Amino acid sequence: MMFCFLFLLSFPILTSANDGGPFDYLMFTTIYPTAVCRADDDSVPDSCEIPKGTPQWTIHGLWPNYENGSYPQFCPGTPSRFDENLIKPIEPKLLAVWPNLFPHKSIQSFWKHEYEKHGTCAQSDERYKNELLYFSNSIKAYETFNIASALSSIGPSDKLITKEQLHNALLEVTNGKSYQIHCLRDKKTKQYLLGDIRLCLNKDLTIRDCPDDRNSNRVHTRFPRRASNGGGLPTYQECPHSFVYISAETSYTPRGLFAPLWDKIFG
Ligand SMILES: *[C@@H]1O[C@H](CO)[C@@H](O)[C@H](O)[C@H]1NC(C)=O
Repeated sequence: MMFCFLFLLSFPILTSANDGGPFDYLMFTTIYPTAVCRADDDSVPDSCEIPKGTPQWTIHGLWPNYENGSYPQFCPGTPSRFDENLIKPIEPKLLAVWPNLFPHKSIQSFWKHEYEKHGTCAQSDERYKNELLYFSNSIKAYETFNIASALSSIGPSDKLITKEQLHNALLEVTNGKSYQIHCLRDKKTKQYLLGDIRLCLNKDLTIRDCPDDRNSNRVHTRFPRRASNGGGLPTYQECPHSFVYISAETSYTPRGLFAPLWDKIFG
């Protein structure tokens, strides 16, 4: 009886935010795969792998958000389940700029997760009303805001950079608007690595400020956030004042032939 009562009580609360109604803006998140795989737990072999030819920065997702800091998820969509056939025309492009870095999961699993959790909640707007439009607009955002190019003046390198240096380099894409960044912790070196950059976009994909965290009743649903859904994966966290935009060549452990031995001794 009590269970029934609680169930009835909670149902309208859950559905009111996830009915696919209007959202306020989009958060466009790009990740830095080099950092994701560096922060990944090396005790699990081949758990993180950057596909050959992957650009420096790749897509994590395009997320409908509310001004109050919360966001709708798993909305009723058309289709409500990811259908690979619908994105066939742009699949080669998606493979390049939106790769899955975790080989134990299927290539499409990342897209499936992002579409079902976030894409289904963007359909109230004509421009995102179906799966193909959601993914093509994500690619459009990626092509509009070239993070790798903006950051080329400060890295990647093995040196520490400050939030100010990052801010100045990013001006090229942010145009002075506020944004968010997150870091990943390298378990071995304890270094904070720049892991993702989140831009806030209007529905027409022009840049806008992210809502000010301090002045909103922000519900901390976004963060900390795992690199992907699953266990044992790196967690995105707040960046300290300085951190490393790590280069793919920066290496502190011998890779290849000696890696298993090295891990045995120092792992
Ligand atoms: C945030 O705003 C949305 C849309 O207006 C609303 O549905 C949701 O309940 C709000 N969440 C909080 C925590 O205030």
